[in-house]
Amino acid sequence: ETGQQRRSHGHPLFRLPSPRKNNPSSFLTCSMIPPALRRQYIYRARHSFVPHQNHKQPTNQLQSRSRNERSRSIFLFEFPERSSGLMATAGKVIKCKAAVAWEAGKPLSIEEVEVAPPQAMEVRVKILYTALCHTDVYFWEAKGQTPVFPRILGHEAGGIVESVGEGVTELVPGDHVLPVFTGECKDCAHCKSEESNLCDLLRINVDRGVMIGDGQSRFTISGKPIFHFVGTSTFSEYTVIHVGCLAKINPSAPLDKVCVLSCGISTGLGATLNVAKPKKGSTVAIFGLGAVGLAAMEGAKMAGASRIIGVDLNPAKYEQAKKFGCTDFVNPMDHTKPVQEVLVEM
Ligand SMILES: NC(=O)c1ccc[n+]([C@@H]2O[C@H](COP(=O)([O-])OP(=O)(O)OC[C@H]3O[C@@H](n4cnc5c(N)ncnc54)[C@H](O)[C@@H]3O)[C@@H](O)[C@H]2O)c1
Ligand SMILES: [Zn+2]
Ligand SMILES: [Zn+2]
Repeated sequence: ETGQQRRSHGHPLFRLPSPRKNNPSSFLTCSMIPPALRRQYIYRARHSFVPHQNHKQPTNQLQSRSRNERSRSIFLFEFPERSSGLMATAGKVIKCKAAVAWEAGKPLSIEEVEVAPPQAMEVRVKILYTALCHTDVYFWEAKGQTPVFPRILGHEAGGIVESVGEGVTELVPGDHVLPVFTGECKDCAHCKSEESNLCDLLRINVDRGVMIGDGQSRFTISGKPIFHFVGTSTFSEYTVIHVGCLAKINPSAPLDKVCVLSCGISTGLGATLNVAKPKKGSTVAIFGLGAVGLAAMEGAKMAGASRIIGVDLNPAKYEQAKKFGCTDFVNPMDHTKPVQEVLVEM
């Protein structure tokens, strides 16, 4: 159980307490947010940031304190173990807790796992926060897929570099990072292109359960290998990730909030702003109002769409979606004809 369980409560995959109220738009600066959008996020952070008294951080890793009690928007994170505690484990196997999926569709069980040191071009990360994306559920159910079990799922997370393997020059222990399942080698035609990010080396591979460098897993339980998931496996207190699948972020960004940039927010915002590219004043319909849909909605609002129709089977989603710019809501269950026909007539 690590950090923000934003989308986990109630699902059989996890049985955890309800998440506290979280406003995913209250980010501080983050190097992953393009400068044009950053201003908006900073603006939002100033108006909606949760005061630090409610801001739970594991006390032995991070201490947060408000620099200015009045503004509530500026937080300083300190990392006291930067050069001592965490580095002491470099080069050694770490034993820690992880949520292991032994079989498709069976509840995860918390196990003690051994995490091997990072090899060439790899980084071992201490995961402080991990969220649950529907893609984890999909590969946990593993319906109609090549089953890869036992496996440690999880890909939407935030953590701190514990140690780095040979050849890693861009990250050092103590850096704050977000894992990304579609990495960048920075060298292939896709990485050099502005049109694609489907890296030849590090593009998502849902069937591979091992590290790309040597074809081995870095996780074991009593010597038995446990497979990785999309190169991230963040349902573990420590994980090993290829350096190209980590984005270094500003250490003042609160990891429990920016962890959702690691998948849901970037997926949704990117789908709207980089792919659909709606024109100012246009009408947009978004199907499914989870983290991805709400981020897509926020993108539509940023792009200046004047009408944003949210479509979801769950009527309770409308209230939340209004905060992200939803002007109209359609529940397909309220109609007898196909929902696309309902939308065309609106
Ligand atoms: N990079 C990627 O390609 C990428 C990244 C993240 C998530 N995903 C996928 O995006 C989807 C959404 O992910 P999420 O984490 O936001 O999920 P989520 O479970 O948080 O939200 C899904 C929403 O869709 C609604 N819904 C389900 N069936 C529907 C239907 N038939 N019509 C309308 N609404 C329906 C649900 O009520 C829910 O509100 C998942 O399929 C996930 O696997 C893809
Ligand atoms: Zn995801
Ligand atoms: Zn590449």
